[in-house]
Amino acid sequence: MESEHAHRKDEHLALAEAEFKKNPPISSLEQIRLIHRSLPETNVQEINLQVQDSALGWDYPFYIEAMTGGSQKTGEINEQLAKIAKITGLAMAVGSQSIALKDHNAISSFEVARKSNPDGFLIANLGAGHTAHEAQQVVDMIGANALEIHVNVAQEIVMAEGDRDFHWMESIGEIINTIHVPVIIKEVGFGMDQQTIKQLEQMGAQYINVGGRSGTNFAIIEDRRNRTTVTKQSHQYLYDWGQTTAESLLETKDSHAKILATGGITSPLDVVKAQVLGAKAVGVAGYFLHDLLKYGPDHLIETIQLWQSHLPKLYALVGANGQNDLPNVPYILSPELNSYAQQRHLD
Ligand SMILES: Cc1cc2nc3c(=O)[nH]c(=O)nc-3n(C[C@H](O)[C@H](O)[C@H](O)COP(=O)(O)O)c2cc1C
Repeated sequence: MESEHAHRKDEHLALAEAEFKKNPPISSLEQIRLIHRSLPETNVQEINLQVQDSALGWDYPFYIEAMTGGSQKTGEINEQLAKIAKITGLAMAVGSQSIALKDHNAISSFEVARKSNPDGFLIANLGAGHTAHEAQQVVDMIGANALEIHVNVAQEIVMAEGDRDFHWMESIGEIINTIHVPVIIKEVGFGMDQQTIKQLEQMGAQYINVGGRSGTNFAIIEDRRNRTTVTKQSHQYLYDWGQTTAESLLETKDSHAKILATGGITSPLDVVKAQVLGAKAVGVAGYFLHDLLKYGPDHLIETIQLWQSHLPKLYALVGANGQNDLPNVPYILSPELNSYAQQRHLD
C-alpha cells in the first residue's frame, strides 16, 4: 500500500493528462509573431543549436521538464523518460524528490532515472522551503548535474493540504550558496514578475525558470483533487491566475540571470519564440507526457527527433546561425500582449 503522498503523485499524473485531453494547451507564445527573413544568408546544415552556457552545455534548447517519481507508476514513467532522454540526447528533470526524503521506499523511483541514463544530464527537483542539506541529498540521490527548486505558491494555496507559510527566501539563498551544481529557481506555471526576478538575482540566483501560465495548470489540477477528496470548495476564479509564459518572458527584460521557460510549449516554433524573448532553453512537460501516455515511448522519441530536426530550419527562417543571434530577431506582439507590455513598462 503506497503512502498518501505517493497517491498524490499518481493523481497529478492522471489529472494532468485528463486536463490535457479535455483542453489541449494553446501556447501563450501564439501572441508573438517572428518576422520572416527572405535573405537569411545561412545554411541549415551549419546551424548550431547548442545552449550557450558552459555549465548546462546542452546540445538542444529544450529538455524534459520535471514531472514524475514517488510512486511505482511514476517511477516507471521516470524510467521511460530517462531512456528517451538518453536516446535523444535531451536533458531531463525528475519530479519533486521531497517524498523520497521522508519515505525511503520512494527513492528507487528517482534513482531509476540515473540507472537508465548513466551519462545524461539529469536535473534534481525539490520544493522551496527545504534546507541546503536536503537539497544536497536529492542531488546525490540521482547524481544530478543541476538542481531545480520549484516555487508554487498558487498550487499550495489551492491544495487543501498545501503549505500556508511562504517564507522561502532564506532557504533558497542558502541552497544557492551551498550547492555546487547549477541551481535553477523554477515556477510551476504561474509565471514570474520583474520584482521576483530581481529578488532572486539579489539572492545570487543565476538560473531562473519563469514557468508561466498557458500549459499544465496546477490551480485546476489541485482543485480537481480537492473536489474529489477533501472539500467541495472550488477555486475556479483562480484558473487563470498568474502571468503567461510570454508575459513572464517579457518580465525578464532587465534581468542578468540565465533565463529558462516552461508552460505550454507545444512546438519547436514555441521553443524559438521563447529563445527570441531571451530564454536559453525551455522545458516541456505536459505535451511530452501526453505523447508518451497516448502513443508510447517510440512515438515520443520520434516527436523529439522531429523537433530537433525542425529547429535548425526555424533558425534559418529568422536568419539565426545559433542561439546568440536569436535575441536580435524582430517580432511583434498581439494587441493584448502589447497592452500588457505597455502597462508593465516592459516595451
Ligand atoms: C504530472 C506533472 C507533475 C509535475 N510535477 C512537478 C514537480 O514535481 N516539480 C516541478 O517543479 N514541476 C512539476 N510539474 C510542472 C512541470 O515541470 C512544468 O513546470 C509545468 O507542467 C508547465 O509545463 P507544461 O505546460 O509543459 O506542462 C509537473 C507537471 C506535470 C504535468
